[in-house]
Formats: sequence, C-alpha cells, structure tokens
Amino acid sequence: MSQPVQMNLEAGKEYHYCTCGKSKDGVLCDGSHKGTDFTPTAFSVKESKEYYLCSCKKSANEPFCDGTHTK
Ligand code: FES
Repeated sequence: MSQPVQMNLEAGKEYHYCTCGKSKDGVLCDGSHKGTDFTPTAFSVKESKEYYLCSCKKSANEPFCDGTHTK
C-alpha cells in the first residue's frame, strides 16, 4: 500500500506529476519514465501550502491523495 507524499507546493509554479510510478519520490517526475509509454501530467496549485500527493496512482483526484490507498 503506497502512502501519500507530503510536500510543500508553491502557488502558480508548474509541477509535473509522475504517472509511471518510477520516480524516486513516487510523485514528481524525475525523468525515469524514459523508455516507457508514460508522460508526466503538468499541474499547479492556487495556494502555497502543504499537500498530500498520491503515490498509489489510484486517486480519483490526481495528483492529490483522496484516501483511496486505504481501501
Ligand atoms: S518519472 Fe514517472 S512520469 Fe516521469
């Protein structure tokens, strides 16, 4: 079971959510998808604060954790 990753995100900054599951931190793209069919999803946030990012890749609210990993 993959736990969400707690991370401080800045408002307006562009982040790239890892969809391949191979990035080192499990949530942000670090280029490890090379050679796979996956591409990262760009996203940004409206408020600078701490977020929980989904690492189980099953959240209906990706890139954010919606608690699905507990089910
Ligand atoms: S490392 Fe997973 S999408 Fe880039």
